Amino acid sequence: MAKIVAGVGCSHVPAIGAAIDLGKTKEPYWSRVFSGFEHSKKWMEELKPDVAIIVYNDHATAFSVDMIPTFALGCAAEFPIADEGWGPRPVPVVQGHPELAAHIAQSVILDEFDLTIVNNMEVDHGLTVPMNLLFGNPKQDESWPCPVIPLMVNVVMYPPPTGHRCYMLGKAIRKAVESWPEDLRVVIFGTGGMSHQISGPRAGLINSDFDKAFLDGLANDPVSLTKIPHVEYMREAGAEGVEMVMWHVMRGAIDEDSVETYRFYTVPASNTAVGHIILEPKGSAAAKQAAE
Ligand code: DHB
Ligand code: FE
Repeated sequence: MAKIVAGVGCSHVPAIGAAIDLGKTKEPYWSRVFSGFEHSKKWMEELKPDVAIIVYNDHATAFSVDMIPTFALGCAAEFPIADEGWGPRPVPVVQGHPELAAHIAQSVILDEFDLTIVNNMEVDHGLTVPMNLLFGNPKQDESWPCPVIPLMVNVVMYPPPTGHRCYMLGKAIRKAVESWPEDLRVVIFGTGGMSHQISGPRAGLINSDFDKAFLDGLANDPVSLTKIPHVEYMREAGAEGVEMVMWHVMRGAIDEDSVETYRFYTVPASNTAVGHIILEPKGSAAAKQAAE
């Protein structure tokens, strides 16, 4: 049986990708950001997942206002890196897991949860930046450490899904993974956020109190957190803060009594508050250590 062994929450700021690609990671501004992921990269290396499901949002790259699915599951064998205006990022093409992805699509859709199946999709910073932060920086002709199933969520055009719908989708994904016969160890990422607003009179808005309460809630009271309405994310965490609904998919997919084993928070990276959390099953060695 396949199993979801851990959940990761992680911001996806595009400037983090640019800092990696332009060799700026040692500059003081950026080393502050990257220092928070040193532990996590080692942790991930030891975890050695067989597959990662990465819940992320596309930024009008593969989709646009012409057509935007609410939830789109990447079922392709590979996902090319998109050109977001400066050429594709020099990172390896993302390899998929078409068999497990097709199984998840079947299980979740027959569970009455509508997903769009995507067999051809380029991926942007929303996917690749969290991959760099957790998997390191393989060169373009190298490869990422494991296959990835991208799950794209619409948070760019109204109306995005509710936090509760995302949480319930996470539960359906967990059921799907656990009905896969092979013993795969799966890690799931919820990405985006934290507080930020990129344009308009409130551009530059950061709300650390909201972000930290969100991280606390994710660890300790995730069901209450799913009740936050969109308008509250936007009022408290800025227009793009609504990206945080994607973290609920991750939270729904992991063990309900998972515990926080690592957290990092820093402001700013570009215009954005960077948040990161690792949640692991209560019985795991890391969870026991964190409780001591
Ligand atoms: C910024 C942050 C994002 O999450 C994003 O998708 C685009 C831009 C920013 O900080 O500029
Ligand atoms: Fe974004």
